[in-house]
Amino acid sequence: MSEWKEICLMTDIPVLGSRRIARARGIDVAVFRNAEDQVFALLDRCPHKGGPLSQGIVFGTSVACPLHNWTIGLADGCAQGADEGCTPKFACKVEAGKVMLDPTELATLALDLEAPRAGPCATTGALGDQTFEVQAPHTA
Ligand code: FES
Repeated sequence: MSEWKEICLMTDIPVLGSRRIARARGIDVAVFRNAEDQVFALLDRCPHKGGPLSQGIVFGTSVACPLHNWTIGLADGCAQGADEGCTPKFACKVEAGKVMLDPTELATLALDLEAPRAGPCATTGALGDQTFEVQAPHTA
């Protein structure tokens, strides 16, 4: 990996929340921040039935999917407990308060996975590395 792309400031991501990154192609990427200010990036698609992980509840180093409450590990994107399946993870680092992702991964990873056509994870239609806040159902 030769370069990193600045996505947003860590403070742009709510603690125990997330921010979505629209890509030129493919499903959005969700960037999560936990209570310890660790930042993780996963495809915004639950490995179960495509739920929007960006709208889940972050706890520890996991996120609970808002649709059927599967627990997904933020570090590896994999379902925990008895559930099986993984969502693609994206390399991510924080430097001087800036959240950085690998532009090659953003452009090439998991382009074959489709978003559900309806429901909360349906595509927003946003294109081209835009980031936007998540209106998570559990926030005031
Ligand atoms: S879609 Fe995530 S738990 Fe079912």
